[in-house]
Amino acid sequence: MEITYYGHSCFQIQTNEKSIVFDPFIQANALASEVNLAEIACNYMLISHAHEDHIADVEPLSKLHDFTLVSNYEIVSWFAKKGIEKGHPMNHGGHWNFDFGKVKYVNAVHSSSFPDGSYGGNPGGFLLEIEGKHIYYAGDTALHQDMKLIGSSFAPDFAFLPIGDNFTMGYEDALIAADFIQCEHIIGMHYDTFPYIEIKKETAVNAFANKGKELILMEIGKTTTF
Ligand code: NI
Ligand code: MN
Repeated sequence: MEITYYGHSCFQIQTNEKSIVFDPFIQANALASEVNLAEIACNYMLISHAHEDHIADVEPLSKLHDFTLVSNYEIVSWFAKKGIEKGHPMNHGGHWNFDFGKVKYVNAVHSSSFPDGSYGGNPGGFLLEIEGKHIYYAGDTALHQDMKLIGSSFAPDFAFLPIGDNFTMGYEDALIAADFIQCEHIIGMHYDTFPYIEIKKETAVNAFANKGKELILMEIGKTTTF
């Protein structure tokens, strides 16, 4: 499968047949100014929580692409009122077999309200089984003990973890998280977009390398094959 980075916490997973996009925050992200929404194929939109920096481009993308929105019940309902009627609501601990693979919605330690102040349900992340690969997309979260359950029951081949600190865990805790989830290959997200979450990339990458793990910091707009 191919993974493309669109900045902040937005990635696309391209399988043989389907495109899955996570947490789009593109037009308001100065670092992603080269990205063209029309070129982001999207069959499924997976949303971790309701904060602006994870949902800003859901509506603009819905005008360009026909996708099914997958998130918690509150988020799917909120977007349904905005006219995005193809939605699949989930909640923590539940899984569903989609035509691209299996998805489980898991908890995150964070908060979740919409830009208009309405309730976004509890924030989450996703465990995905796609084309034989196990993938964890953590969303915004602190390090937490339940990650050990992900390690013992799922052991992702690679994982998207926030590393920018301040609003989520920083890279030091992400390194502990990588141990908890029993994963060697971490794709960093939620860093450098705002001054509060600027990081020293080389320091973070080296910290992982020193523990025998890989921290992958993708270039915005670039695609990697996994
Ligand atoms: Ni957030
Ligand atoms: Mn965020």
